[in-house]
Amino acid sequence: MNIRTFTKLAAGAALIAVTAGAAKAQEGVEVLHWWTSGGEAAALNVLKENLQKEGISWQDMPVAGGSGVQAMTALRARVTSGDPPTAVQMLGFDIKDWAEMGVLGNLNDLAEEQGWDEVIPAALQEFSKFDGDWIAAPVNVHSTNWLWLNKAALDKAGGEAPKNMDELFALLDKFKEQGITPLAHGGQPWQDGTLWESVVLSVGGMDFYKKAVIEADPEALSSDTMRQVFDDMSKLRTYFDPNFSGRDWNLSTALVIEGKAGAQQMGDWSKGEWLRADKKPGEDFVCIRFPGTQGSVLFNSDQFVMFDVGEDKRDAQLKMAGAVEDPAFQIAFNTVKGSVPARTDVPDTEFDDCGKKGMKDLAEAAASGNLAGSLAHGHAQPSAVKEAVFDVVTQHLNGQITTDQALERLPQAVASAQ
Ligand code: GAL
Repeated sequence: MNIRTFTKLAAGAALIAVTAGAAKAQEGVEVLHWWTSGGEAAALNVLKENLQKEGISWQDMPVAGGSGVQAMTALRARVTSGDPPTAVQMLGFDIKDWAEMGVLGNLNDLAEEQGWDEVIPAALQEFSKFDGDWIAAPVNVHSTNWLWLNKAALDKAGGEAPKNMDELFALLDKFKEQGITPLAHGGQPWQDGTLWESVVLSVGGMDFYKKAVIEADPEALSSDTMRQVFDDMSKLRTYFDPNFSGRDWNLSTALVIEGKAGAQQMGDWSKGEWLRADKKPGEDFVCIRFPGTQGSVLFNSDQFVMFDVGEDKRDAQLKMAGAVEDPAFQIAFNTVKGSVPARTDVPDTEFDDCGKKGMKDLAEAAASGNLAGSLAHGHAQPSAVKEAVFDVVTQHLNGQITTDQALERLPQAVASAQ
């Protein structure tokens, strides 16, 4: 080989090395999510740090707003402008909608390599797969039918956890006598919907929830049972503080943490805020199933979908999806987030009492047929139906329509959104 050929080859090799180095340095993910509260951000950091250790850079695209309504609006804008983020936090029916459009990356090879089929429960696979293909990596299982109580306030009120709506109202009366806000609620449509679905489950039981919410049966939606639900919602409204309107969920949690309020009905992401404030279950706070719903679980699962954004992004996307399903990550993340693992083979040893209860309740509810998707968090109906229900529930809770009107409008609103 003459020197000229050698120099040429060497230069070529150097160029390849530089290009590969540059490609490696650039390997990263842009992640759209709505985990912006203290507890949520702390949980997300676990994932960020794990990926950074693997050399994957993290470009954060947080869109504040509980339950992801605003995040989904931001996502549509990004996709419309032809620039989808590489990874997106998503819930239930939204995953199905995007999958149907054929814009999500296929995760089958990774799923097979890591054996997802064996460890992700069927209720989640329903949303992580489309047409038999894996298109989402589930991070967790949350559940919405919980009540979070300030332990000192509960002890002062006699220490008995309420087991049905009547006992709940009696406890809220006692909180009122203590001079604190009985029920910390944030008046936003998704929060109204989260409260409503717990009341539906409590008043009607799981069969009724399935009929009214999962099947959207018009008779169930305007039944006497639903009348009771709306009456109870009106009564619950009398226990809110005057500043409830529009308040973010984590600020309501803070009121209960500080002892300014007695209780909050909220999904178990609420626990993330308690832990972040250094509070302990059983000592500072008490987690119970929303009164009258023990034995049943309304679930939602945060999942990451990978938009099809080109081969150069694929490796980082797969590394992120793989990191999400790592059992050690499932423990590290979910113990901070308040959720329980998306995998069924993760032990509960490192979870606190609320986490252990969450895992046990979930397994029992799944086995007894008492597990159903949360409407307010995208696992019972497509977004249009969910929002139609929110409209009626919010208007009613704010006294803009009567219970009679709510019962008339609910089946109509659902039907026209279907
Ligand atoms: C849920 C989501 C949770 C939590 C909550 C409040 O929809 O599954 O992870 O973020 O909203 O924003």
